[in-house]
Amino acid sequence: MPEQHLDNFLLQQQQAAERVNQAILSALDALPFSDLPLASAMKHGALLGGKRLRPFLTYTVGTMLGVKINNLDIPAAAVECIHAYSLIHDDLPAMDDDDLRRGLPTCHVKYGEGNAILAGDALQTLAFQLLSSGLMPDVADKDRIAMLAELAYSSGLAGMCGGQALDLEAEGQQVDLESLERIHQHKTGALIRAAIRLGAYAAGSKGHAILTMLDKYAASIGLAFQVQDDILDVVGDSAVTGKRQGADAQHEKSTYPSLLGLEAAQEKARELYFSALDALKEIEAQGYNTQTLIALTNFIIERKS
Ligand code: IPE
Ligand code: IPE
Ligand code: MG
Ligand code: MG
Ligand code: MG
Repeated sequence: MPEQHLDNFLLQQQQAAERVNQAILSALDALPFSDLPLASAMKHGALLGGKRLRPFLTYTVGTMLGVKINNLDIPAAAVECIHAYSLIHDDLPAMDDDDLRRGLPTCHVKYGEGNAILAGDALQTLAFQLLSSGLMPDVADKDRIAMLAELAYSSGLAGMCGGQALDLEAEGQQVDLESLERIHQHKTGALIRAAIRLGAYAAGSKGHAILTMLDKYAASIGLAFQVQDDILDVVGDSAVTGKRQGADAQHEKSTYPSLLGLEAAQEKARELYFSALDALKEIEAQGYNTQTLIALTNFIIERKS
């Protein structure tokens, strides 16, 4: 990527992270019981570290479609709250039993399992509190309802939770490639698609008009993102990923490197990268500037954390 584009991309990414952090922080600070460890556990899970990729997608898709940015803080924050909850629960002893996340002790290690479970629960409900009553000045009520339905569907049995259940079932087994793709598309892809769709819904009919193309893009980057996550579990550096390297192998997780080998997994990520770019070409042909989404697509497969 040319240096100037890269600078611009990093700046946009940083601005998105600052905006969404502020939105989450003010929502949390407006709630009672701020002195409870539960409130600190929620902040630990939602605000310390993390790439804020999903909010960035919501902001990028929304602004690409001409939505004013102040309409996007709420959907971006809602998606990130669901993501943070999913990670807190993912790390619990009953699930992946991890003790390191974002370079810090995981939520249950620091605040105890009870508080970690509740922090996940309360971040999940905060997402829907924000999305149902937060400020989105130019968004029509019907589009707000579409966002609510989308986030609920993608987070639950039909999406992230369903995928997480499949992931747990596949531990210690050699599943086939089709089943593995299904796991990844649900546990990770569904929320990434929701982040994109929420940005689109904020734009009303303009968003709906290109939804199929956006979904095609989402399917490619959603899977690519988890393939790269699996690869980083093998070749990544804990000091950079902030996660315990080799945890997937330890739990005999079904992953792309374990099923295909490292090189074929890397090749798969590259294929998905090109299909994501193809989907963006279709969107560009509709007259939209996809520069930032292209940069984001590069980031997803080049990332080291
Ligand atoms: C990690 O997600 C879990 C997956 C779905 C692969 P991220 O890599 O986006 O985690 P953070 O938010 O940046 O820590
Ligand atoms: C997690 O996948 C997907 C979620 C829904 C949280 P992983 O279990 O691979 O995520 P990490 O590697 O712990 O971040
Ligand atoms: Mg997991
Ligand atoms: Mg995990
Ligand atoms: Mg992982």
